Amino acid sequence: MKILLAASEIATLAQTGGLADIMRSLPIALKAQGIDIALCMPKYRHVEIDGEDLGEIQIPIEDRIVTGGIIRCTLPDTDIPVFLIDQEDYFDRENLYTEKGRDYPDNLERFTFFCRAILNLIERGIWKPDLIHANDWQTALLPTYLKTIYQKHAVLGKIKTLFTIHNMAYQGLFPIFLYPVLGLPWDYFNLSELEFYNQVNLLKGGIVFADAINTVSPNYAKEIQTQEFGCGLDGLLRKNQNKLTGILNRVDYAQWSPDQDAYIPMRYDASNVQEGKAKNKQALLEEFGLPMPEGRRPLFGVVSRITPQKGCDLAASIIPTLIRRGAQVVILGTGDPKIEDLLKSMERQYPDACGVQIEYNTEMSHLIEAGSDMFLMPSRFEPCGLNQMYSLLYGTIPIVRSIGGLADTVIDYHESDQGNGFTFDDESTGAFMEACDRAITVFEDEKAWSILVQRAMQTDFSWRQSAKEYIELYQSIL
Ligand code: ADP
Ligand code: GLC
Repeated sequence: MKILLAASEIATLAQTGGLADIMRSLPIALKAQGIDIALCMPKYRHVEIDGEDLGEIQIPIEDRIVTGGIIRCTLPDTDIPVFLIDQEDYFDRENLYTEKGRDYPDNLERFTFFCRAILNLIERGIWKPDLIHANDWQTALLPTYLKTIYQKHAVLGKIKTLFTIHNMAYQGLFPIFLYPVLGLPWDYFNLSELEFYNQVNLLKGGIVFADAINTVSPNYAKEIQTQEFGCGLDGLLRKNQNKLTGILNRVDYAQWSPDQDAYIPMRYDASNVQEGKAKNKQALLEEFGLPMPEGRRPLFGVVSRITPQKGCDLAASIIPTLIRRGAQVVILGTGDPKIEDLLKSMERQYPDACGVQIEYNTEMSHLIEAGSDMFLMPSRFEPCGLNQMYSLLYGTIPIVRSIGGLADTVIDYHESDQGNGFTFDDESTGAFMEACDRAITVFEDEKAWSILVQRAMQTDFSWRQSAKEYIELYQSIL
C-alpha cells in the first residue's frame, strides 16, 4: 500500500501549530507498521534542507503558465521521502499563511499551485500512490480535482483519497471572483459542492469529494455534526456521516518524553519526578524573571496559539483570582494582538506572579511542560489538542474544558478513580475557576497530588493504536 500524505506544514520543516507535529509523527508511526509513505509540502523560505532537484514543473493558473520545481529530500532523522514544491513567488515569504495578521491575498492561488504540482508529480511517475491522504483546506483540492476533472484520467483516476479535518474553523474561504483560479468548470460552484454563501469553500470540496473523511478525535467527529461546532457545515457532515470517523492524535515520544527531552535542564521519569520538576521549575521561573516562591505554591503553565479558540482571554481573566490563591502563572504564545495585550497587562500588574512571553519558542514550550505543576487549556473548541497529552506525560496536571479531543484524553479527578486532570463544561470563567480551585486544593495535599502525578504519567499516548486505525481506514477505502 503506497500512501502520499500532503500537508501545508510538517515538523520539523515548517510549523505554526499541532498539524505539523502530527504530519511528522503519523508517517513515522505508519512506516514502523510497514506502510510505504511519502510526504508533500511547499518549500517555504526557511526550509533549509539539501535535496535533489527533480526538475521544472509548469502549472496552468487561469491564462498563465506558472513555473516551479520539485525537490526530493527526507524527513529529518528518518528515511521517509519528502517532495517539496518550490515556487519562489508563492512560498519564498516571511510566513506560511499570513502577513501582519492577515491572510496573504493570493492564498487560493498558492495552494491551488501546490495541489496541482502534487498531481503533476504523480502523473510524471515520480511517486505513484494508491491513496492520497490530504489534510485541511490547503490540500482539499486534491480529492476535488481527482473526482472532477481527473475522474477519467488513466493514472490519477484510480487514486483514492482520505481527507483529514484538523480544524473546522479554517475552511479556505475565498471570494467568488477568484473561482477561475481553480481551473474547474462553473458547474461545480453550487450549493452541494464548492459554493458556501456565495464564496468558494475548499474544505467543503474536501468533504464532498474525498472517498473518506476523518477528524482528529472521536469526540470532535461527533461534535462537528452539531450546529454548535460544525462552523456552518454540520448539515453536510451529517449527510456524509457514513464516511466520517474520528481517530485520536497521539504523541511523538522521541520529541516529548521527560526522560529524553534535550531542551530541559533536568530529565526525569516517574521515579524522580518530584526532584526533576522542582529543578525545571526553578529554571522556568528564572527564564520568566519570577521569584522562587516560599513554601508550596502551584505554578500554572500555558503554551498556545493566542486565538479565541484557545480561550486565552478566559485564562487572562482568572489570573488575578489564581494569584490571590497563591499561584504563579507563565504563558507562552503568539496570535491575536488584543488578547496578547490583555495578557501583557496581567504581567505588568503582577510582576512577581505572572510571566508572559509573546513568541514562538520550542525550547521554552518544553520547559513549561516540564516545570509547571498544572497546565491550562480552556478551549472553546478543540479538535484534538496536543499540549494536554504532553502535560500528562510530563506529570503536569491539565485543567481543560471537557470538549473535543480534550474530553477524549483528560478524565476528571473528582468524577472517576481513573482521573488524570480537572475538567469543566461551561464556557465561563466561573466554571473554569471552579476547576482550578479544586486542582489547587488537591495540590495542597502533597500525598494525593503525588498519586495523581504518577497516574497522569502512566497514560499511554503512543501512536501504535491510532496508526493501526489509519491503516485499517486506508484498507477499507482501497
Ligand atoms: P493547535 O494546532 O490548535 O495550535 P495543538 O495543541 O494541536 O493546537 O498543538 C499546538 C502545538 O504547537 C504544540 O506542539 C505546542 O507546543 C506548539 N506551540 C503552540 N504555540 C507555541 C509557541 N508559542 N511556542 C512554541 N510552541 C508552540
Ligand atoms: C488543529 C487543532 C488541534 C489539533 C491539531 C492537530 O490545529 O486545532 O486541536 O491537535 O490540529 O491535529
